[in-house]
Amino acid sequence: MFELVYYSIINIQKGKTSIQIMDEILSKSREFNSHKNITGCLLFRNNVFLQLLEGKKEDVQNLYSSIKKDKRHSNVTLIIEQEVKERMFPDWSMAFYESTNTNADMNQFIKNIIFFSENSDKQTEATDLFLRMAKHISIK
Ligand SMILES: Cc1cc2nc3c(=O)[nH]c(=O)nc-3n(C[C@H](O)[C@H](O)[C@H](O)COP(=O)(O)O)c2cc1C
Repeated sequence: MFELVYYSIINIQKGKTSIQIMDEILSKSREFNSHKNITGCLLFRNNVFLQLLEGKKEDVQNLYSSIKKDKRHSNVTLIIEQEVKERMFPDWSMAFYESTNTNADMNQFIKNIIFFSENSDKQTEATDLFLRMAKHISIK
């Protein structure tokens, strides 16, 4: 099993809101990720995406290569990639907050993720970095 964490900055396109962009990304992601057995979590706050991807090394690295080329964001920066024993989010093809939610809900969602992860025995260096960055983007 392999984990990868990166962050990036959204590119807002003409005539589209960030919510519409995320809806497009998510519907595509959930389908592809469940097909490839990739799981993880995508957070979005203050124009920053933070994503944790988990799966077979080759699948995760191939997906990250197409994500890097995606014009909907830029400054795609790898935080960590590593082999791990287990998944942190085995049941989530891509956990995310729903687009109708408010920023307050997003903060709550991030807090729930943090709580869930801090109480899990599956913490790895990658999930630890992911959570620290999650705290950083949520607390403003
Ligand atoms: C922030 C962000 C996260 C993304 N996450 C995923 C993902 O988890 N799974 C996925 O299939 N596509 C994801 N995408 C979409 C991919 O970048 C890309 O559009 C998709 O893999 C199709 O690539 P292709 O057109 O080269 O086949 C994401 C895009 C962005 C901007």
